[in-house]
Amino acid sequence: MELYQLDFEPVGRRGQCPADQSLLEAARQLGVDLVSLCGGKGTCGCCKVQILTGCVSEPTPSEREALSSQELGDGYRLSCQTYALGDCKLRVPPESLTAPQRTQVEGLEVTARPEPSVCTYQVQLPPPSLSDLQADAERLLEALEQQHRVDCRTIDIEVLRNLSPKLRTWNWKVQASVRDEEVVALAPWSSRHLGLAVDLGTTKIAGYLLDLSSGRTLAVQGIINPQIAYGEDVIARIARTRDAPAEAARLQELAVEALNQLAVDLCAEIGAKPEEIVEAVVVGNTAMHHLFLRFPVEQLALSPYVPAVKEALDVKARDVGLGIAPGAYVHLLPNIAGFVGADHVAVLLATEAWQAEGVLLAMDIGTNTEVCLVSDGEMISVSCASGPAFEGAHIKHGMRAASGAIEHLRLVDDRVEYQTIGGAPPVGLCGSGILDAMAQLYLAGVLDRTGRMGNHPRVRVQEGEREFILVSEEERDGRPAITITQHDVRELQLAKGAVRTGIRVLLETKGHSEEDIEQVIIAGAFGTYIDVASAVTIGMLPPLPLDRFRQVGNAAGMGAKLALISRSKRVEAQAIARRVGYIELATAPRFAQIFAQAMYIGS
Ligand code: FES
Repeated sequence: MELYQLDFEPVGRRGQCPADQSLLEAARQLGVDLVSLCGGKGTCGCCKVQILTGCVSEPTPSEREALSSQELGDGYRLSCQTYALGDCKLRVPPESLTAPQRTQVEGLEVTARPEPSVCTYQVQLPPPSLSDLQADAERLLEALEQQHRVDCRTIDIEVLRNLSPKLRTWNWKVQASVRDEEVVALAPWSSRHLGLAVDLGTTKIAGYLLDLSSGRTLAVQGIINPQIAYGEDVIARIARTRDAPAEAARLQELAVEALNQLAVDLCAEIGAKPEEIVEAVVVGNTAMHHLFLRFPVEQLALSPYVPAVKEALDVKARDVGLGIAPGAYVHLLPNIAGFVGADHVAVLLATEAWQAEGVLLAMDIGTNTEVCLVSDGEMISVSCASGPAFEGAHIKHGMRAASGAIEHLRLVDDRVEYQTIGGAPPVGLCGSGILDAMAQLYLAGVLDRTGRMGNHPRVRVQEGEREFILVSEEERDGRPAITITQHDVRELQLAKGAVRTGIRVLLETKGHSEEDIEQVIIAGAFGTYIDVASAVTIGMLPPLPLDRFRQVGNAAGMGAKLALISRSKRVEAQAIARRVGYIELATAPRFAQIFAQAMYIGS
């Protein structure tokens, strides 16, 4: 097989790829993470690269559809569709890179009385002698019983393997970490008592290092989920595992490698080692949960969308490859349904929404939007396929929340005033900017209720399609204008229509009207940055007074933290998951009618 030298700039990654490997696969192998929302099918248009030098295969029909003639002329190609025919130098535009990207780790501050699953005890053992021949393990268990009244029956096999030398090295003084009558870790006296909480999101992973004794957060970090290179939404990743079963193992490895790196980095912040972490809690949507545990995921994408397991699980960290204390456990909160997972349980737990009186909505908006209606003590949820438009996909100049993304904008007379992430020169539009753009065009009368784009000095027709110029070529020093097209508006109508449909179906099911909603809790990264007024203007959210909306940041991460430090909160989480009902949206009696109405712009 012929090998070609590839040079990805400005990332600076170079290496060889075989002739039968797409540029996307080659980039992945070289550690260049390109956005591939569709998992390499040539339909999302996210994996663009520009061929600077060298020969590549002819554009495929999907590329001719996804790329404008000008882009093709400038050498832009979809990396998943393109093969090198010789050595090449390529430029990766910022919007095609999965990182850097803004990650959301902070959320509402929640506390609980620390009552962790793992407790530590300092014990001093009498050394053995010719008149005391008790074995080391029994000696430890007896000391725990005698000195702390802890009835401990087993010692983890990995702890046992190292027990004898450690007891002697530490002069018979040890700190034992005990979980449910099992010794899961040993350390010298006065060692730290650390726990790791993780929100394993489809796009981002948030990690929190906690002191289990005090419940204090010691370090926090957010990273991009490296599985993104295998498709940005869960459906694309599930499809990958179906097409190539070995990919499931790779997806699990990627998640675990990311969590291990997170553990190393978080510990480094406080001068600790990952082996000092004696318990972890991981929350994620059902697909992330299953992929992490290497459970089958194909059934999640097939009606009736049943998860492999709903109940909370405790697994040995080493069984999933997590590099914390060898005997430690990972606790996974329970799932609600195939598309409403443990992360939503964590949101309900952290916000205490499940205990609310009156009518409340709790939602996490993303490629999949989960909504839960709490109504007089009853809870019912839906999952809305809002799609990837809020992540900037299928939007001509859409991008994820990275440097240079327009995150907010206003139309003032005929001028567009905008704010970009990091104050960098504008590159494209991220989700919050896209919502603002749609709201502003509607308020200015450029869009009518059906979403049709009318006339305006900034509207032009480009390649047969109307588009509104947000940042012109002149304003970008000759680079292509940033626009919002008629097609973009249609994509957004589908996305926002799906969210509003979910809300309406829930309310109808319980006999409520939108005015009955006393509070709307919006969790998650996207929900943190959106302008709620824009979301109401376009009709994604119901027309309620703005003070009824509460943006709470990464509540799933906060829920994971609570479950880490408090056994009672784990019991609460289990109760929540059992009590929340689930409606499959498409089976709701008036689904088609509600969705058609929800597609209109405006409240
Ligand atoms: S078009 Fe390339 S990954 Fe989708």
